[in-house]
Amino acid sequence: MHENKKAETLRLLREAKDSISGQDLCEHFGVSRTAIWKIMNQLKEEGYQIEAVQNRGYRLVGQPDLLGKDELESRMSTDYIGRCVYYKKETDSTNTWAKRLAEEGAPNGSLVVADTQNAGKGRRGRSWNSPEGTSISMTLLLYPDLEPAKAPMLTIVMGLSVVQGIRSALGVETRIKWPNDAVLNGKKLCGILTEMSAQIDFINYVVIGTGINVNQEAFPEEIREIATSLRIEMGQPINRAGIIASVMKAFEKNYEAFLKAGDLSPLQKDYEEVLANKNQKVRVLDPKEPFEGTALGITPTGELRVQKEDGTIAEVHSGEVSVRGLYSYV
Ligand code: BTN
Repeated sequence: MHENKKAETLRLLREAKDSISGQDLCEHFGVSRTAIWKIMNQLKEEGYQIEAVQNRGYRLVGQPDLLGKDELESRMSTDYIGRCVYYKKETDSTNTWAKRLAEEGAPNGSLVVADTQNAGKGRRGRSWNSPEGTSISMTLLLYPDLEPAKAPMLTIVMGLSVVQGIRSALGVETRIKWPNDAVLNGKKLCGILTEMSAQIDFINYVVIGTGINVNQEAFPEEIREIATSLRIEMGQPINRAGIIASVMKAFEKNYEAFLKAGDLSPLQKDYEEVLANKNQKVRVLDPKEPFEGTALGITPTGELRVQKEDGTIAEVHSGEVSVRGLYSYV
């Protein structure tokens, strides 16, 4: 019934107002006291501080910022997105690992997480910094029944889900720099890299990789001007697993709406409400013909609508160009 007893125990400990009795846990799982005692010891070995209170039971002392399969699965409230977690302390890139898992048949909605990546990938061949103990590096594996040309829209679905997930976990309003960077106070908080394996008319699988700066207290010189973390902006440490679970919850809802409609139309209003570029002057860095204009919003398929000075409206595709604010990064 409970496939992951450690995760379920963590969930019960977290939800218990005070402590939870050994007897209740035995009945919940249909196992012996010794089995419960073993689970508690394993959790302690993973770094959880669990107190055994005489005649009362077990109590979770504090909520450490631990990542791990048990921690993440214990927090998920979705049907299938993020329900099966693969976790490693360190990997090359969660996107690359997720692709290997896809080839081995990992289930739809699997979430691949690492505490740190030693070859994290950014968009346009850049690298991505994911220091241990402070950042979120996660990749969602999907097998969508979609035309391959629609896959880039999934990046927008994730971008919106990150903003909504952070809102429901922390009550903070982050915004989106089109197409999918989450920004806070004008600096980048999150990047998304979507990759896929496809035939001409069929998607084998898609991996959506998301990197969120959570508890970094400083950034390397090269990105200091444009990057920030939730901790820097909020002035307090943030629990990473809670954010991951909230983002997964938001993604599942958005993804279902997107699949049903076949495009972003059901999400367009929510997206435009958090679009940092909306009604802002932007420079479209088109290699053939750069231009300036005012960003109006997006099309149902995710292109940025930019009104040029002559009044005409251009639809900008994310694959080809990048967009900058006239006076800053956003
Ligand atoms: C960007 O350039 O803005 C995209 C950054 C994407 C980073 C994430 S971290 C998790 C996943 N694994 C990777 O190697 N990249 C993505």
